[in-house]
This record gives sequence, structure tokens and C-alpha cells, in this order.
Amino acid sequence: MNISTGSSLRADPQRPSPSARPQFLGFGLGLRAQHYDEILNGTPPVDWFEVISENYMLPGGQPLRILDRIRARYPVVMHGVSMSIASTAPPNFEYLSALRDLARRVEPKWISDHLCWTGVHGKNLHDLLPIPYTREALDHVVSRVQLVQDFLGRPLTLENVSTYVQFSNSEMTEWEFLSELTRRSGCWLLFDVNNVYVSAFNHGFDPHAFLEGIPTDRVVQFHMAGHSHMGTHIIDTHDHPVCDEVWDLYAAALRRFGAVSTMIERDDNIPPLDELVAELTQAREIAKRILPALGDKQND
Ligand SMILES: [Fe+2]
Repeated sequence: MNISTGSSLRADPQRPSPSARPQFLGFGLGLRAQHYDEILNGTPPVDWFEVISENYMLPGGQPLRILDRIRARYPVVMHGVSMSIASTAPPNFEYLSALRDLARRVEPKWISDHLCWTGVHGKNLHDLLPIPYTREALDHVVSRVQLVQDFLGRPLTLENVSTYVQFSNSEMTEWEFLSELTRRSGCWLLFDVNNVYVSAFNHGFDPHAFLEGIPTDRVVQFHMAGHSHMGTHIIDTHDHPVCDEVWDLYAAALRRFGAVSTMIERDDNIPPLDELVAELTQAREIAKRILPALGDKQND
């Protein structure tokens, strides 16, 4: 069998053409309504904001007008919670259309959601539910990601979720599944450092094995968050500051992946903006220590 080379090499149909890797944005925060005024009336040292897509998908209204003003000053990424990419239910094109409309308005640096399902048969359970890591599930999710990417006209970014149960029929690890998913679909990865820590504790695997199992060139964003340690298990509550163990894992993630856009993700018990900026400064300091070439990335 002859193997051709150079320009005559035929593309692997399973392998998407590579898209440009999104730029490093620096250190950001999740945009929360409690902080709107302070952000608009001041100059907090935040490089970029992540917005929850569903909060702005209604046309018009005050939240969207505020988002327009923030977008005029900061890079923004869109983060969704109800795409249900792994569901066996038919894709929700009404949702995808609204998401695409918002993206046309916001021009986000990327659009992310979670590797999970959130419901079937028209029911949204409003939770990020785990999937079995089987070859069948991988084929299914790859095809769904390709469909969504074609619809949105851009690559998707998918995040690892915290989980509390595992499936006995899984045929690979979560990191093997994510690696194959990004290789075959061309999606980028949002590496939630806290979620890796939470799932590793809950299921008894080494979080560093997860870290080492993810390809170094596919991660475009880190999430950092706090959790609730219940002794026997950890619940991913996003209502506490980031703990020391997760900061340590963040340092290891920086060593493996290099400069990756990092943000603090707080969803409950939301503190004053200053407290989140202080946590963000901690992330910035750790990153500068691990990656001295990073220098002083400030909002521009
Ligand atoms: Fe997250």
C-alpha cells in the first residue's frame, strides 16, 4: 500500500481540521449581578469575564444592556449550563439558535458548556449529570459536538463536571474519554481544577493521573472554585474560597498546560468583589511563580 505525503495526504475523516487556538486572556471572574455596579463604575483588576449564557438569552432587557457595556470594556467568554450535549434527546435547536444569536451579539472568545446531560423527554433537571465512559457514548457525544459546532460555526469548549456516581459499564477513564473527544471532534477543553479534585476524592482516583492524561494543547480555560467537604465525600457547591489542595493542583496544571486563561467561579454565598479579586490575585501570583515569562498580564 502506498502512503502519500505532503499536500496529497488525505485528511483523516475522524480528525477535524485544526482551528486556531484561542488566545490566553489572563485572569478573569464569572460575571455576577451583585457586582454589576462596581464593575461598571470602577476599574477592578480583572482581565476578562465569563457570563452564564442562559442569563442573557432573552432578547432585550436590562441584563443584556449591562452585558453590552461590560463587553465594550472586557473580553467575554460564554459559559452555558443547559446544552445537554451528551443527552440522547434530539438537539434543542431553539436553544442553539438563541445561543448563536447571543454569540453574534457578544462576540465571545469562546463558547463553553459541560460534558454531561441535563434531561430527556423535554424535561430539564437543572443538574449536570454524569455519563458512562463507553465507546458508544463517545461516538454519540462526538457526533453531537460536531452537529453543534457546525450549527454555531465555531468550535465548542467542553468542561469536565464533578461527579458523585460512576457507571460500572465504563470502558475508559474520564480523561481518556475527554482526550478522545477533543481529538475526534476538535472541541477545546475547559479544565475545571476543582471538579477534578472533587471527582478524584469521591471516586478514589489520583487527580494527577487525570491531569497527566489530558493532552497539553487542548485546554483553553481553567475554572477554580470552592467546595463543601462532607468527610466521606465532597459536594461541588461553589460557595467557598478555593482550598489549599485545589491551589496545589492548579500549580501542577500550570506546569503541565502552561499559560491557560484562569477564572474564579463563585455561584453561591457570593462575597464582595474585592474578595474575589483577592482570590484572583492569588491565582495570578501562583501563575507568575510557575511561569515567570508570564510577567504582569493586566487588563488591556
Ligand atoms: Fe466549572
